[in-house]
Amino acid sequence: MFRRFDKKDKNAATPAPSLVPGGGSAPQPAKPVKAKSDATPAAAPLKLKPAKPKPAPAKPSNLYIDPKEEKRLSRLLDIRMSLHKRLLETLNLSALDKASDEELRREVSAISREGLREMGVVLNGVDQEQVIQDLMDEVTGLGPLEPLLKDPTVNDILVNGSQQVFVERGGKLELTSVKFKDERHLLRVIDKIVSAVGRRVDESSPYVDARLADGSRFNAMVPPCAVDGSLVSIRKFTKDKLSIDQLIEFGAFNEAMATYLQAAVSTRLNIIVSGGTGSGKTTTLNALSGFIDDSERIVTIEDTAELQLQQVHVGRMESRPPNVEGKGEVSQRDLLRNALRMRPDRIIVGETRGDEVIDMLQAMNTGHDGSMTTIHANSARDAVARLENMIAMTGVELPLKASRAQIASAVNLIVQISRLQDGSRRMLSITEVTGMEGDIIQMQEIFKFQRTGVAEGGKIEGKFVPCGLRSAYTERFRQWGYDLPADIYAGADL
Ligand SMILES: Nc1ncnc2c1ncn2[C@@H]1O[C@H](COP(=O)(O)OP(=O)(O)O)[C@@H](O)[C@H]1O
Ligand SMILES: [Mg+2]
Repeated sequence: MFRRFDKKDKNAATPAPSLVPGGGSAPQPAKPVKAKSDATPAAAPLKLKPAKPKPAPAKPSNLYIDPKEEKRLSRLLDIRMSLHKRLLETLNLSALDKASDEELRREVSAISREGLREMGVVLNGVDQEQVIQDLMDEVTGLGPLEPLLKDPTVNDILVNGSQQVFVERGGKLELTSVKFKDERHLLRVIDKIVSAVGRRVDESSPYVDARLADGSRFNAMVPPCAVDGSLVSIRKFTKDKLSIDQLIEFGAFNEAMATYLQAAVSTRLNIIVSGGTGSGKTTTLNALSGFIDDSERIVTIEDTAELQLQQVHVGRMESRPPNVEGKGEVSQRDLLRNALRMRPDRIIVGETRGDEVIDMLQAMNTGHDGSMTTIHANSARDAVARLENMIAMTGVELPLKASRAQIASAVNLIVQISRLQDGSRRMLSITEVTGMEGDIIQMQEIFKFQRTGVAEGGKIEGKFVPCGLRSAYTERFRQWGYDLPADIYAGADL
């Protein structure tokens, strides 16, 4: 259990309930870490997978499906599609909404049994149950995707046309045996999803980004832009975001880094979490927000509301894409501008990717310190370059030096995370932005992940090390009561 730094409340301004002396009780409900352990790359056995699927039964891998099983499933799929057609003809669809699951299941069972008899198909008990369940999924849910959506170990679902469905479990991609009957079947499921959220996807507007009822993020691209059949990506919503403790346990960073980050967040440094897609930016941002004091008013701005802050005083906002006529858009920038009038103590922007960068930096520079956001970049330097680019793209005429000055004074800290080849997610570096020298933004790295090698099975070995530099914010930390022990910056192996 990460023992929070016991702040000495010099100013005694706000007694911080989250910093219990002695760390005897945890401020966040301590969730049993075990429950999640099968979804973690740290716990999962990490095997180097072959580049190509190998159709040799002797070597099962996560890209291989037993041909026998495939044949069985393909037969069941055929049966289910014929039964589904029958169902649509016989079921009273308008009564569907009112029927309870129980009634519906009884109805579906009855129609399927009759159908099977008429088609002269004999199924064993297990297969028959499966067909009925699949039909239920087809009628009430998202068909073949339904079991994957319900599976808690699946993080992402990726569909490449009707015949190939991948999932991500514990940071690794796996091919599943799930298939759609054909492209039409897949299109029907896509249509069901997007029409439920009042959107449309077809040849004229071939892609759509939406949020499902359970909070999952959904993206689809249909032909002709998708060349070999529709492409679907679903990032599942995880109800329990990982806590600082869990992240330490999974090896995302170590205790010294957590202590440093606690001080950084509590003393209101402006922080950018940088990383690639799926590297854990949102997760990290969410965990860091756990260090914010309960007495502060936080507003969050996101394209898809994912953050789950533990604090009491939170105003959540979500942007809105334009409707089918191209009207009604509310951008992150609109939300941010409005947020400034809402008396926030902190502003958290889920991901900065466009116009809002200007207002974000301005807010950070003008009293809304302690703001946080994420950015899609591969290193601290790259994150700054991305910010410069975004400023340039807004069309605001700002000389590069002025952009840099703006960035250097707004951003205090860049936390770089990455998903490594073995599927594990690590904080690769914590870097402070210390100012400008000439035209160049000055930075100093405080902690980093040092790779030491690759273990058998492809697992990447390494350790977190302090870079030997004292934080440039040491004095600030001290003034706020975070007189961190000097040895967290030293070369000691922590
Ligand atoms: N350190 C970690 N260990 C294990 N799983 C993690 C870790 N960080 C994030 N995840 C998982 O990875 C997935 C993607 O994380 P997310 O924060 O949404 O990434 P991003 O915002 O960078 O796209 C989520 O399912 C999350 O639970
Ligand atoms: Mg994210």
